[in-house]
Order: sequence, then C-alpha cells, then structure tokens
Amino acid sequence: MHTDIDLKTQYSHGVLPQTTSDEFARQEFVKSLKFHLASKVSVGNKDAFEARANPAFAKSAGHPAESYHDVRKAMADEPYFNFWSAMQRNSQEMMWKSVQMPVERQLPKLIEKSRQEGAGGTLRLNPELEIPRYHRAVDIHCMPGGYHTEFAEDDLANGAVYDRAVYIYAMGRMGPFNSDIGDTTIDYIKANYPDIKPRRILDMGCTVGHSTLSYLDAFPEAEVYAIDVGAPVLRYAHARAESLGKKVHFSQQNAENTDFPDGYFDLIVSHILVHETSSTAIRKIMAECNRLLSPGGLVVHAETPPYRDLPAYDAFMLDWDTRNNNEPFWGAAHEIVAKDIAAETGFDPDKAFEAYQPSAFDAAEAKRTKVFQGGDFGGGGAWWVWGARK
Ligand SMILES: C[S@@+](CC[C@H](N)C(=O)[O-])C[C@H]1O[C@@H](n2cnc3c(N)ncnc32)[C@H](O)[C@@H]1O
Repeated sequence: MHTDIDLKTQYSHGVLPQTTSDEFARQEFVKSLKFHLASKVSVGNKDAFEARANPAFAKSAGHPAESYHDVRKAMADEPYFNFWSAMQRNSQEMMWKSVQMPVERQLPKLIEKSRQEGAGGTLRLNPELEIPRYHRAVDIHCMPGGYHTEFAEDDLANGAVYDRAVYIYAMGRMGPFNSDIGDTTIDYIKANYPDIKPRRILDMGCTVGHSTLSYLDAFPEAEVYAIDVGAPVLRYAHARAESLGKKVHFSQQNAENTDFPDGYFDLIVSHILVHETSSTAIRKIMAECNRLLSPGGLVVHAETPPYRDLPAYDAFMLDWDTRNNNEPFWGAAHEIVAKDIAAETGFDPDKAFEAYQPSAFDAAEAKRTKVFQGGDFGGGGAWWVWGARK
C-alpha cells in the first residue's frame, strides 16, 4: 500500500525550527497517526453511516438523510464516528504540542536569526492594531495563542510553530515550501486571465508567506506586498523570505481596512484566509479589495469547496472543523456565493467567478485521498477559487 511523505522533505531555511531525533520522531508519529486516521479509519465512518446511522435516521425522520445537517444529526450518537472524531481532535492537539516543544527550546536562537536580512524586503509592524474579535475569542484550529499572541520580545514563536505544523497537518501534501495553495491559484490566474500583468500584488492573510513567495517567481516584474494581523507570524515570514532571497513588503494590517492608496494593486489574492474571518468581515474584505484594485484588476480567494458542490455525506465530513476544531466560521465560509458577495461589495456580479483548480503539487506524489474531509487538508487534490474582476 501507500507510504506517507517523510517530514524531512520540508525545505529547510534560516528560521525553520530544528528537531532533535526524539522531537522528530514525535512529529513523525503525529503525521503518521493523522495519515492513518485519514486514509484508513475515516473510511469506516461511511460504512457506519450507511449500515446504521442513516437507516435509524430514516426511521425516525420518515426520510433518509438529505442535507449535511441531516447527516450530522444521524451521526451524532454513532460510536464509530465519535471514536474517530475524538482521535482526530487528539491528533490535532498532539500536533501543536509536538511542534511547540522544539520551538520553545530554541526560541532565543530563532529570534536572533530572524534579525539577519538579505533580500531587501521590509517589515512594518503596528503594535496599536486591534486584533479582530474572531481571532481573540478562540484559539483558531486549536493552535495555542492563535496567530497574534506574543510570548517574548520580538516573538516569532507562532510563526515557527505554524510553518512546521502545516507540513505535518497537510502530511507533506502542500509541497516542500507548503506553497500548494499559492501555486494552484497562480495556475488558475495564468490559465484564465493571461492578460493580467500585475505591477503590484497584495497577499491578504499571508501568515508566514507560504503562498506569497510563489508570486515572486510567477510575476517577476511585480512588487509583492503581504499583510496579516499577527506580528509573530509576520516577523517569521519576513525572516523566512529574507533567508530564501525573496523580496516581500510585509505589514501588520487588517484586510478589512488597510492603509494602501485606492487602486494600488492589480492583483489581490488570499489563501485560506476567508474561512477564518466572520461573515461581516468577508464582505468588508471584498469591499476593501474593490477599493484597492486598479481598473481591470483581479481578486482571487482560494479555499476548500462549498458544501453545495459536495454530496451531503462529504459536506458533513468537511464540516467537521466547524464543530470540533475551533473554526467557528468554517461552515459559513463554505456557503459563499461569489456573485452575491461581489454584488454586495461594489463589483459587477457578471465579473465574479467560482472554479475548481487541480492542485499544483503533483497529485500522485501527494497520495491524495481525492475526498475533502475534516483534518485531511489538501487531500482533495483541488482548491476552490472565487473572486471578481474590477
Ligand atoms: C490559515 S492562515 C492563511 C495561510 C496563508 N495564506 C498560506 O497560504 O499559507 C489565515 C491567516 O489570516 C490572517 N487573518 C485573519 N483575519 C485577517 C484579517 N482580517 N486581516 C489580515 N489577516 C487576517 C490570520 O492571522 C492568519 O495568519
């Protein structure tokens, strides 16, 4: 049968936290556990649904499960699902711990290394920035402290934690730079909007720049800007980019309301930002994109697919994160209709789009499940892109 991807394949750079052999073994265990749950254990949920949960639901409701809400009700007391779900949640908590330990051990050294520059990029932080409530109220996807909490002076701990954790979470299926979402979005833009020749590009919600850096290679003539609300992730993003020789202008800003001038960008992108903001914030972000785009400019957001495109059972599995992984807006973000949001935020709805784009990172290499399910991020082998042209 298949083998999973070795964690040593993550590309090393100046601030990637190093692991002792014990720490590495712990991370490998967590990744293999996640892979086992996704590829072997999770499939049993469907058998349990078909053999027990759906017939019982049909008996009490008078019809078999039709919507993903029905499936959720049917599965609520199903022991197999509850067992898998508990394991899934545990693997998530184990993942953060396995990464926090090495980062904590070498934090002063990482902070020291982050002061080295090399590519001419910039970092502009704003200690006065109000962190949106949707990030303060929960530890998003169970990541202790979220993206913004600072544990030390000039802290970058949660950037380092995120960089390594994403590689474990996606089980290596986002490529050695964790850049699959950016690379895939670029493929979509080049195939569908070949006339776009951006002078300036903005990546919103960049975190540590996993997707951002791909835009430098794809559009070498463009200046690349990237924003996030979290200072620790931005410090890490800047240090990572500098060490990789990539010039990016990072700044700490809320994508709902930035300080860039009107019409400053020809291309605005985001990669799995939207599902981590509120329904109100999504609309404010799109309105801000409209203000920031030059005439003819393009905004593209990349996410996992909307529930309406999936069979009810698959939508239920993808919705696992909403209720079990501290992702309170995950569900609402999977109900987005691009045309509606475009119309509400000043874009021409006829210039809005939604599409599936196959993952840029080799699908065969990535051992994808082809099914979108909670905790199996990147396993579906495609990303859903939506947005509008101005
Ligand atoms: C899942 S991460 C994005 C990952 C990254 N784009 C990538 O491709 O690897 C979501 C990021 O969005 C940021 N974020 C959330 N709301 C934001 C907002 N209103 N303005 C700017 N950044 C925001 C978070 O701080 C977090 O770093």
